[in-house]
Amino acid sequence: MNILAIESSCDETAAAVVRDGRTVLSNCVNSQIEMHTIYGGVVPEIASRKHIEAVTALADQALVDAGLTRSDLDAVAVTYAPGLIGAVLVGVNFAKGAAAGLGLPLIPVHHVRGHIAANYITHPELKPPFVCLCVSGGTTAIVDVRSYTEMEVLGSTRDDAAGECFDKVARVLGIGYPGGGPMDRLAKDGDDTKYELPRAHVQGHDLDMSFSGLKTASLNLIHNAQQKGEELDLPSFAASFGRAVSESLVPRVMAAARQKGYGQVAVAGGVAANSRIRADLQAACAQSGLKLFLPELKYCGDNGAMIGCQGYYEYLAGHTAGPDLNAYATRDISLG
Ligand code: KG4
Repeated sequence: MNILAIESSCDETAAAVVRDGRTVLSNCVNSQIEMHTIYGGVVPEIASRKHIEAVTALADQALVDAGLTRSDLDAVAVTYAPGLIGAVLVGVNFAKGAAAGLGLPLIPVHHVRGHIAANYITHPELKPPFVCLCVSGGTTAIVDVRSYTEMEVLGSTRDDAAGECFDKVARVLGIGYPGGGPMDRLAKDGDDTKYELPRAHVQGHDLDMSFSGLKTASLNLIHNAQQKGEELDLPSFAASFGRAVSESLVPRVMAAARQKGYGQVAVAGGVAANSRIRADLQAACAQSGLKLFLPELKYCGDNGAMIGCQGYYEYLAGHTAGPDLNAYATRDISLG
């Protein structure tokens, strides 16, 4: 089954063709980062306009790269939630038009379910159930992936997402947008014990997380240093920050995995590219005898292939939509 998949939830327009949920025939991503960098963050209105400009050509390119024509397609899948509402609407409306015009089924896909499915592309042997740490610019959650389409959030952030925290701190340091990648690279030469930063605990909800305290403490530390004219040891600050984020995430994923007893742990989303988090998870899983699945770096950030992959399983479960499909800025992952 060949699925054309469209993703436009944030600042990447993406189109891909995926065969039978696991084989990526093409994966085209048009990043808007250069445009948003000028503003230090994503400007929703600009994101929507850029998606409109890019989506048709990108879908055509995905077909060309896959070596297919429109008549070879069997369905159209699209991210319909969550995301910047104007941005998601562009993809949804394009997909609705494409599905109606080609006479194909339309498959709505939850963006975070797509991130989780990126692991199926990298690891053909991976099958649910497993526990997945979903960490991106908008989401930080530990998800119980019971089957390909039955999921439940076991714990999540009470405030900022981990990626958002990386981005805000990096912006104040002036080291680029989005900030996770540059912070990760800086951290490689740093001493992760040099700066003391908080790890939050949500009383009575052991699997929940909070990053606003870490963000505020980091911003205060940076501003204090600036006011005193002290030079911050940037690599060590980045390393201390990365360690604080990792130590907020990794023990909770391990606790969730113990609770569920699945023996398999996966990671998903843009922050899953972080080398400290990957290394800490590898060490923790090796120590606990759990199998760890990490998506290939190119499938960590937003892309269409992951939507095509999850779309296949949603289709098998009978989850298709009509022309009245709407887009949602927020939506629980358990609802599909
Ligand atoms: O999944 P994604 O591309 O978009 C969302 O769905 O949000 O994730 C983007 C986030 C940004 O916050 C970015 O700073 C972060 O992923 N990120 C990283 C790394 N690479 C990207 N965070 C930490 N370390 C990285 N290496």
